[in-house]
Parts: sequence; C-alpha cells; structure tokens
Amino acid sequence: MSNRRTFAIISHPDAGKTTLTEKLLLQGGAIHLAGEVKARGAARRARSDWMKIEQQRGISVTSSVMTFQKDGVVFNLLDTPGHEDFSEDTYRTLTAVDSAIMVIDAAKGIEPQTRKLFEVCRMRSVPIITFVNKVDREGRSVFETLDEVADALALDVVPMSWPIGMGGIFQGVMSFADETIARPEGDSREFLGKREPAVDIPEDIAEEIELARAGYPEFDLEAYRHGDLTPVYFGSALKNFGVAELIDAIARYAPPPRPQSSSEGTVDPERPDVTGFIFKVQANMDPQHRDRIAFMRMVSGTFKRGMKLTPSGLGKPIAVHSPILFFAQDREIADTAEAGDIIGIPNHGTLRVGDTLSERNDLRFTGLPNFAPEILRRVVLKDPTKTKQLRKALDDLSEEGVIQVFYPEIGSQWIVGVVGQLQLDVLVSRLEAEYKVEAVLEPSPFDTARWIKGSDAALKSFADFNSSNLAKDRDGDPVFMARSAWDVGYQQERNPELTFSATKER
Ligand code: G4P
Repeated sequence: MSNRRTFAIISHPDAGKTTLTEKLLLQGGAIHLAGEVKARGAARRARSDWMKIEQQRGISVTSSVMTFQKDGVVFNLLDTPGHEDFSEDTYRTLTAVDSAIMVIDAAKGIEPQTRKLFEVCRMRSVPIITFVNKVDREGRSVFETLDEVADALALDVVPMSWPIGMGGIFQGVMSFADETIARPEGDSREFLGKREPAVDIPEDIAEEIELARAGYPEFDLEAYRHGDLTPVYFGSALKNFGVAELIDAIARYAPPPRPQSSSEGTVDPERPDVTGFIFKVQANMDPQHRDRIAFMRMVSGTFKRGMKLTPSGLGKPIAVHSPILFFAQDREIADTAEAGDIIGIPNHGTLRVGDTLSERNDLRFTGLPNFAPEILRRVVLKDPTKTKQLRKALDDLSEEGVIQVFYPEIGSQWIVGVVGQLQLDVLVSRLEAEYKVEAVLEPSPFDTARWIKGSDAALKSFADFNSSNLAKDRDGDPVFMARSAWDVGYQQERNPELTFSATKER
C-alpha cells in the first residue's frame, strides 16, 4: 500500500496553523530551525538551489507544498492560504488532499473560517483529525470543546488524549493509547520528548478522564475515513505537545491516496500510467513574465522527468522537462513522483485549474468543483476602448482561478464573482499591472449565482422568462444570477425539472 499521506491544515487565522506546520516539518526533519516557515525574502531564498528556481522564475512556491518523511511515510502537506479572506484557491487545495487536520484554539472553539473549510471537506468526505491547540493557555472546558465540535459539525468525536489542566495549572497531556503523559519541562515549559507513566493526576482531572473514557465511543477507523467521526488530540504547537501524536495519527489512520472519479470510471492509485489534475495555478510575481506554475496532484502512476502528458481538452501532449518535485528534506528537484505527490509544472498559460493530465489518453477527472461566489461585482472600464483587453484579462484570471467571470446574456456588463474580498483587490491590481486595464468594481444587482442544469427544453423555457438573470460562465455553461438567496429558493420551487447548484463540477 502507498506510503503517501497528502493532507492540509484547516483553521481560522491565529489558531496556530503556522506554528503547527513548523513543528510538523521540524519533526519530519524537513527544516532545521523553527521560524523558517514564516521567514520571508532574501534570508529564505538563499537557502538552497531549489530557491534559485523561484528567483529565476519570480514565483514563490515554497510553502504551497511541504513534503517531509518520518518512519518510512512520506507526508505531503498542502498549504491553504491563510488570509482573513477566502479564495477559491483555498477551496481547491482541499480537492487535492486525502485528509485534513482541523486546528482549533482551545479558548475559542470553532470559528467561522474553520467551519467554512470544514464544509468543503464534508462535501468531499475528506476525513478530519482535530487538534485542539494552545492548551498551555487558559481554555474552555474540554467537554465544552468536544461538544461544540460534535454539535457544530455534526460529527462523532473521540478524544485520543486529555490535557492535565490548562493555563496556569497546565501539567501536560495524557495520551489515551498508552496511558502516558507528556509533561512540561524547564523554563520554557516545553515538551522535550520523554513520556512518563500517568501517575499523580489531580483528582478532578482524573475524574474527567474517567467520565470521558466511559462517555465517548472508541475510535472507529471506518467511521473516521468516511468523514463521520473525528479523533480529537489536545496539545500545544508552540510548546510541542501533541505534535508527535498527530504525525503518528496521520501515518496510522489517514487514508493513502484515494481513487478519483473520472469520465472513464474510477481511477485507482495503483493504475500504472500517470494521471493527475491541476488544482492550483500560480502566476509569476513579475508581470513581465507570463510563466506560471501549475500544481498537479498525482492520481496514479510514476512520473518521470521529461515524460509527455496530455492535458484534457488540448489534444496534444506536452513534455514536462523541468517539473518541480517537492521531495523530502531539501525539496530539491527529484526525478520521480507517485500517486499522492504534487508536481509543479512550469508553463505559459496552457494549463488551467481543473485540467486533467494523463499519459495515455484524454481522460478527464470529474468532481473538481467551482464554488458559488459569495461576492459579485460589475466590472466597469475607465477607458471603454479597452474592452478586448478586459475580456482577455478576465478569461485569463478566471482560468487561473483568481476570479470567476459571468457574461450576462443581456447587456455588456461583465460580472466577476469571488469567494473572498481579498480576491477583488488582487483582481484590480493585476488588471492594471499586467493588462494595463483600469477598471472599477461596482455593486452588482445580483447577490449570488447558481449553475443550472436540465433538459434543453427546460432550460429554454426558463430562459424565456428569466433572460435578464441569465449569464454564461467562462466555459459557456448557463448560470442563474440571483438577486437573493430567496430568489434561488423561489426559482427552484417553480422549476423542479432544473437543478440549481452552488458548485459546478468540471
Ligand atoms: P495561524 O498560522 O493559524 O494564523 O497562527 P500562528 O501559528 O501564526 O499562531 C498565532 C499566534 O498563536 C502566535 O502568537 C503563536 O505564537 C501563538 N500560538 C500558536 N500555537 C500556540 C500554542 O500552542 N500555545 C500558545 N500559547 N500560543 C500559540 P503571536 O504572538 O500572535 O505571533 P508571533 O508574533 O509570536 O508570531
């Protein structure tokens, strides 16, 4: 069976994702100094030959994929951008993982962004391991946190460890598996790696533990892998508690690369020829260069440098001569990659988010969704003679997954949709810098969008009545532009023969 574990960390800003990432990489030997994940600029770039590629290409791919190894298991950790705002990038990264770690702050519980990301995981049945972070600080009661996860996310919870006090009375974390305690040591009150037998537990906490062990079910691997149950680990990324258990849990429980559904049926990771899909495209930071890196999640086969792969829709193969393989310690360019791994493919815009690449034929993976935008804006040109440039820019940027674009059936005002405010700022500045197009974004009369599907006749009769609410997306698929969520519900009721979908699978 595959020794790959490809996962992401989902969390609300400030819960400790960066700190935990550092600690995971440290334990896996991938980096040697804590703090390097956040290090920016020259200091970081000087580190290895690998970085030269980034310098030449002006693309920072360093933290998009982080690979580390431990005890024969290869971990591919995909970064979900940590902005306050959401981007489709974040959603899409979750289409490329087999499992996720959900980090929550012991004092704050489930926060909005955690919940949104969780919903995406649920949609795709991505199994989740929960890490309750910062138990070295004052937090909520452990039961309260467990109940909240169970209620808010409708998941069964199984505590795998238990904090011995929190904040001022924090005395370590007890692991249920082997009944040992990791205790704080020295001035820094960190865990240094030596576990002790579970003795001398204060009475009230011993009682809690007894209650917990009687009250929660046993860990059930099947239920976890189905996305119905989450094992919950307590710890402190900052002080190193619970990190080793987390790595162990991913190695032991998290699923190896999953089969992926496609136009030809399910593609198994054991299939010998190379297949994969693009889940992210990163453009050059230098607008003079049109270089892009497309990130491909390998679904099957063993990739070798120089191999020819055919992107779906293109019909002719491209040779992948200088792939970026994110391999273990030095993240140097290695020569092979297998199912579960990520490859960075430099290209000039040929590869789009959602594309399938395959070695043998024109296979197409399904189930890589577009997400209904939460913010819609009308794009208004300052100089109306630049319509052509604008159209090109919007097409390009939507291919990259920066925005979604909708071309209304009536009228000439194009609408862009994003899932987070930040994407709008990125859009305006990139229009200007890369396409020399000055545009302003104005409120749109529409509030949300739904992809519609149905028979030609049903679509036509719907269109006859609703032409002013119809648009096409960049692929030419019909979209209902709704004035409100109520509008969606109303139309759904009136048109039962049509489906109104908040996601579109390519
Ligand atoms: P994020 O990537 O999820 O946004 O969180 P990040 O790791 O940057 O952590 C946010 C803050 O929480 C940081 O403090 C970090 O040091 C702290 N933190 C993370 N894990 C723990 C933990 O287990 N215990 C405690 N007590 N604190 C933790 P900061 O002061 O905001 O950032 P910095 O300026 O120190 O980097």
